[in-house]
Amino acid sequence: MSRTSRGIDTKLIRAGEAHPRVHGAVVLPVFQSATFEIDRAEEHLGYHGAARYIRLNNTPNHTVLHRKLAELEGAEAALVTASGMAAISTALFTLLRSGDRLLAQRCVYGGTHGLLTRELAQLGIGVDWIDAAQPASWETKLTERTRAIYVESMTNPLLEVGDLEAVVAFARGHGLVSVIDNTFATPINFRPPEIGFDVSLHSRTKYLNGHDDIVAGAILGGAEWIERATHCANHLGGALDPHAAFLLHRGMKTLGVRVRHQNASALCVARFLEQHAAVARVHYPGLASHPHHERARTLFSGFGGTLSLDLVDGSAEAAERFIAAARLPIPAPSLGGVETLVMRPAAISHAGLTPEERGELGIGEGLVRLSIGLESVEDLLDDLDQALRA
Ligand SMILES: Cc1ncc(COP(=O)(O)O)c(C=O)c1O
Repeated sequence: MSRTSRGIDTKLIRAGEAHPRVHGAVVLPVFQSATFEIDRAEEHLGYHGAARYIRLNNTPNHTVLHRKLAELEGAEAALVTASGMAAISTALFTLLRSGDRLLAQRCVYGGTHGLLTRELAQLGIGVDWIDAAQPASWETKLTERTRAIYVESMTNPLLEVGDLEAVVAFARGHGLVSVIDNTFATPINFRPPEIGFDVSLHSRTKYLNGHDDIVAGAILGGAEWIERATHCANHLGGALDPHAAFLLHRGMKTLGVRVRHQNASALCVARFLEQHAAVARVHYPGLASHPHHERARTLFSGFGGTLSLDLVDGSAEAAERFIAAARLPIPAPSLGGVETLVMRPAAISHAGLTPEERGELGIGEGLVRLSIGLESVEDLLDDLDQALRA
């Protein structure tokens, strides 16, 4: 049988690569040049087409990433940005004007929550929060000025999985743009354009780069819309440095092997923690006990490498004692790298929310988030066990 599309691991290595190779180099070199000589043959493309300049995100190190990422998720086009927040803010500034409103999933990454409730609010852009698992409740939140609906494929830090197919259908039915932050799932586990999302966003600081050594982001969508977002990004100025682009390009090539390993290890850790006497609850969509497990099973080909847990003693102090006693997980913000990281969302990723806001979202003061890396899972289990006993 002839196959029409290459497998995702082949795309990670080969999609979008320079053709012909630059001086035969198997790896695209870093083009550490802020500006490039104008190509007279491309002058008909206008200023942005003919001129290459790092802030325009159009050097060879950028464009290879645009092509590769678009192909991976099955989007028409992609744009890399200086960070995940640069991707999110650029996308929302492209979509929304003063007076517009956004439907947004109640529990989103703390930085996104801050952007929506502070900077966008200052510009007169309103947010109406929705429970992404309850489509019947969304219509009451619609206004004449609602322009878009915003969700995360798995939420940070509670790993909730909204009814993503209903989000796409609702957006189409009401003329809204559907936007998803796909950082936690990665294109290995889920490709939003395949189920009809208009815009997919990433913090590529996390799994896509995978080595905790850069920050980066990406926006994916239709070619025309990405062109609009590119103009917005050019003016906001959040361009990715070529050296960071080079590292991201290298990191992405191993995304498949890393994420499949992390899927398997995180499931193993989640099952172990769920049975542990010191643990009250584990939040991981791969567990049958997770309220959105069936939906996650249908939508995703893996459940990701991040999970969170509440200890039986749910205090912040008990969580900090557990974090201090763990020897392998490094206490640090971020996720998705080869090292296992641990932190308390109330103190780090969601510290910008008030305790009341966190309480309403179900983010307890003692909630602990673990990003599972590539260490041997037996070592992680032994270490977590001794830390829980301590
Ligand atoms: C789901 C999600 N989206 C976006 C971001 C922001 O990414 P960055 O730190 O690359 O700006 C984060 C950061 O933790 C995140 O967890």
